[in-house]
Amino acid sequence: MSIRDIVILPDPVLKEVCAPVAAVDDEVRALLDDMLETMYDAPGIGLAAIQIGIKKRIVVIDVSKDEDEKAPICLINPEITWTSEDTSTYEEGCLSIPEYYEEVERPAACKVTFLDRDGKEQALDCDGLLATCVQHEIDHLNGVLFIDHISRLKRDRVIKKFAKAAKRGEMPEFKSRRGNEPATERPLAE
Ligand code: NI
Repeated sequence: MSIRDIVILPDPVLKEVCAPVAAVDDEVRALLDDMLETMYDAPGIGLAAIQIGIKKRIVVIDVSKDEDEKAPICLINPEITWTSEDTSTYEEGCLSIPEYYEEVERPAACKVTFLDRDGKEQALDCDGLLATCVQHEIDHLNGVLFIDHISRLKRDRVIKKFAKAAKRGEMPEFKSRRGNEPATERPLAE
């Protein structure tokens, strides 16, 4: 297992659409292990393969709050098959857009089908933070970031800030708005 480098905005790879996994083999399982290690190290609660530069439809998630009882979920070729009409709003963050948080409204619940690490078909009913996290991660597989769900003004501002910082070889600084809810991907508590 190894910790991989995380791709940061405005890397164009984050806009790419990922390809389905043809077969869940040992190579995919090794990738899942690296993704989990990278996510826990960040620390984060979700990571898509494209965030470590691999254009495959693979996601790892762990929204468990207890550090001693990890509950990793591995989603291969995930598909959202249903979303609720009810919506909920979470302050989201992304490991590819460090230290930036913004509220995003999404369906409050969803159903997702996927292949697990044994290649078995599974289905999962999601609500709360898990529903938001699943939607955020599956967006990544389609080249969509959470900032694509916020106002154009705010989006342009954050992209500009990261683009400038990338040119200078630095990370941008943000005054984060901190709430009580954990953001997606990166928990708010530091
Ligand atoms: Ni993300």
